[in-house]
Amino acid sequence: MSKLQALTNTVVNWVDDRFPVTASWKAHMSEYYAPKNFNFWYYFGSLALLVLVIQIVTGIFLTMNYKPDGSLIPGTNVSVAFNSVEYIMRDVAGGWIIRYMHSTGASMFFVVVYLHMFRGLVYGSYKQPRELIWIFGMLIFLCLMAEAFLGYLLPWGQMSFWGAQVIVNLFASIPVIGPDLSVWIRGDFVVSDATLNRFFALHVIAVPLVLLGLVVAHLVALHEVGSNNPDGVEIKKNKDPKTGIPLDGIPMHPYYTIKDIFGVAVFLVIFSYVVFFAPEMGGFFLEHPNFDPADPLKTPPHIAPVWYFTPYYAILRAIPSFLGTQVWGVIGMGAAVVIIAFLPWLDRSPVKSIRYRGKKFKTALVLFLISFIGLGILGAKAPTELRTILSQIFSVIYFGFFLLMPFYTKNDPGTEPVPARVTETNTSRQLAFLMYVGIAILGSFVFAKLV
Ligand code: HEM
Repeated sequence: MSKLQALTNTVVNWVDDRFPVTASWKAHMSEYYAPKNFNFWYYFGSLALLVLVIQIVTGIFLTMNYKPDGSLIPGTNVSVAFNSVEYIMRDVAGGWIIRYMHSTGASMFFVVVYLHMFRGLVYGSYKQPRELIWIFGMLIFLCLMAEAFLGYLLPWGQMSFWGAQVIVNLFASIPVIGPDLSVWIRGDFVVSDATLNRFFALHVIAVPLVLLGLVVAHLVALHEVGSNNPDGVEIKKNKDPKTGIPLDGIPMHPYYTIKDIFGVAVFLVIFSYVVFFAPEMGGFFLEHPNFDPADPLKTPPHIAPVWYFTPYYAILRAIPSFLGTQVWGVIGMGAAVVIIAFLPWLDRSPVKSIRYRGKKFKTALVLFLISFIGLGILGAKAPTELRTILSQIFSVIYFGFFLLMPFYTKNDPGTEPVPARVTETNTSRQLAFLMYVGIAILGSFVFAKLV
């Protein structure tokens, strides 16, 4: 043993006697056995962790030069807050890349998390015994939405101001307490400097703190029960009698650390392309009206939230006012998010993975996907009569997917028995998957052009 090795061992032993570094590494990495059949869909958990780190680190650096101050610079219509973002973009060394990484990171967070959640749906990862992983995931999702909404006010551009105005006003439609509640949230009768200051405080520390705690809880719950997999086979049911190691398991490290590093590399190529060549993403990642400073006297002709909120926004607009109140739209929008948390109890199928599900579930899933993407496209556009009708149809399908689930999953013809052990990769299934993705992308473009 070299002197260096001996010294390293001494230090590690010293720490291990006081803090379980080696034991934790073994329990969660080198001797943590994950199913050996993880596929493409299993990249998005680690990618979500990566984006979380990117957002926190770039956020810290942005905070060093950003000023949450809505007052106007004398003689101009530009606020100190808006100007501080321009200052970061033009004058702070490396400021532009930090800001574009943060704005791109916000959208990429939702891309990654939506794909991560969709994986859960496709492979039934929310089903027993993983209900709590799903619940923690849903709380993370709520925090993420809050975090994105709060952050969007900070540049104090036209969309920041009017977007916040529209959303906070929704609370005012709640009977009895609504008007007071919306004043309480804003800290004023209109969105103002007081609102900007509290949104800043919540965005930089309060919500991220909760988010981090929830991510830890999410992963603790995951490691307690172990991962699901594309076959929905519980690998802990088949262990080597001598070693006690699951027969279909492989150690997280080095197998999945290497796989995840490959995912990170591909992700960073795409992420860098957006940051360097398309940070506005045609107005989807950074909306064009937000390059104009906030003007409380000039309402933009079309106020739309950022793309990741548009499915819910379309549901809000699809529900007409009834009994003289618009609160139904707000309830519908809230219910559209909350209902996802109940999946573990709505799904009555005896199998988890789509591979062994029957025709009814497969059809319902495709309809759900079409309605979700359709709502997303419609929510980004100004309302017309046709778009409202389409949004209503898609909203009914959206809620139908969840509310009818206990019935169509209970008795689903074509459901196949789950094999005892995980199966080999199937090339024709992968090609079919790529074909479906192609059809979905093409279909979305055609639909967006037509409506
Ligand atoms: C900051 C956001 C999130 C982070 C960092 C995160 C992280 C992770 C990681 C690292 C894994 C293990 C690797 C993998 O299965 O891909 C995982 C698994 C899982 N996550 Fe998340 N997650 C996040 C959000 C969510 C959300 C919003 C949901 C759903 C509502 C969710 C549901 C799940 C489920 C069900 C699993 C187990 C999947 C399986 O075993 O098949 N997660 N998460």
